[in-house]
Amino acid sequence: MGSPTREQAGAARGAAVLRALDSEIERVRRATGSAPVVLDVGGGSGTWAVPLAGAGCRVTVVDTSHDALATLARRADEAGVTDRISPVNGDVDALADVAPADGADLVLGHGLLEVVDDPGRVLSGLAAAAAPGGAVSVLTVGRYGAFVNRVTTGRLAEARRLLTDPAGRTGPDDSLLRRFDAQQLRELAVATGRLGVETLQGDGTLEALLPGPGPEDEQSGREERDELDALASAVPALGEVAPRLHLLGRRH
Ligand SMILES: C[S@@+](CC[C@H](N)C(=O)[O-])C[C@H]1O[C@@H](n2cnc3c(N)ncnc32)[C@H](O)[C@@H]1O
Repeated sequence: MGSPTREQAGAARGAAVLRALDSEIERVRRATGSAPVVLDVGGGSGTWAVPLAGAGCRVTVVDTSHDALATLARRADEAGVTDRISPVNGDVDALADVAPADGADLVLGHGLLEVVDDPGRVLSGLAAAAAPGGAVSVLTVGRYGAFVNRVTTGRLAEARRLLTDPAGRTGPDDSLLRRFDAQQLRELAVATGRLGVETLQGDGTLEALLPGPGPEDEQSGREERDELDALASAVPALGEVAPRLHLLGRRH
């Protein structure tokens, strides 16, 4: 896994994405009577795969990193879900070699589009792996969320570069190859020719506005905060400045 900065899409699980995936699991359960078959590409150490397996999904995790897959195996064992997770050492650029076309009810590409060479080709590959009627969930770093982060932490030169650099990078040492705005992400999904955009929202909107420990220490406070976070993330103007952008595409 790349450097685990808080900014990377893979570093956090916000309420908006969790809710979208929960309702997708429910949708498949209602339609088929069983939990979705999930393909988690760039799934790393199992931040998403382990809880999805815990929810009853059968999850194939494809990742280039042996270290991440070893951590995944340990976490799956600790969570008692080893029998529902299949780790595969593979590259998204050769996804068809390790995952059947039209095979998954739900395909995840979380924290991936900002680190691969060709995000359009990668998203096309993810879409091709989804069954018709299935979903592709993309979570990536938001360019304007990164801008807000740099301004609020006093890093104004980086903030400026995030706006002026064509790929939304802070410079040559940036660990990410690009950051997206919502329109770019939508266009990328539509350009696959296989996806209709069902949801395009922020994720973790409150993180930027309410940093540090909040009332989430109390269970009731956390629920209230998650509720507000999901609500705000669905408002385009607020979701656009969230640290992460989430797109759920429906396979034609
Ligand atoms: C930021 S981590 C995200 C991990 C996880 N999806 C999450 O959301 O927590 C990116 C992951 O993508 C993997 N990765 C990067 N390039 C890849 C590629 N070309 N094919 C498959 N996996 C790749 C990395 O090894 C890493 O585990």
